[in-house]
Amino acid sequence: MSSEAMWPTFIETHDLSDDCDLDQAVTECLMVSNTLQDKNNLPLKDWGTPELHRIHEELIMPLFYQHLERRYQFKPEGVSVANWIFGGNDGSGLEPHIHSGSHFTAVFYPMVVGGSIVMVDPRYSAQRGYPRDFIDGHFGKKKINPTAGQLVIMPSFLEHYVTGFKQGLRLSFVNDIILRTDDGDVHFD
Ligand SMILES: [Fe+2]
Repeated sequence: MSSEAMWPTFIETHDLSDDCDLDQAVTECLMVSNTLQDKNNLPLKDWGTPELHRIHEELIMPLFYQHLERRYQFKPEGVSVANWIFGGNDGSGLEPHIHSGSHFTAVFYPMVVGGSIVMVDPRYSAQRGYPRDFIDGHFGKKKINPTAGQLVIMPSFLEHYVTGFKQGLRLSFVNDIILRTDDGDVHFD
């Protein structure tokens, strides 16, 4: 007999709250959100946000490389990262989406007022026709209520959405990561 678990989809979370200055991270996210929103294609090092830069360099990327090696046994020749800040206001969630154009997405929450991130089973139509209890156990949605200082790492193909929330601001620092091969090519096909 042989039995394999095919097509695993890994979602990893870390609590970075003890390792960073969350107040400073919030301040820097707000500054970017308010002043640099149309320049989000600027590299992170040019944002003028030292704590976000440190969190990215010293915490997020090392944890991502560990995740890649532990879960996928893969060491990239290099990576490119697109960073941006998402600030959601009162009541606004996010419609279902993927992060096309990158391989992995790491989202850091410097503060959270509300709004869950919900991931959807990426296997197209996999749950069709199964009993409800079976679906809940094997094809259910993954819901995370982010805490301040939490990091979520997932493959960028994973469809997700954010539920609405009643008041306040919801900030996230997004790291869309592209794996590079030794010849510099990026393969999305
Ligand atoms: Fe997203």
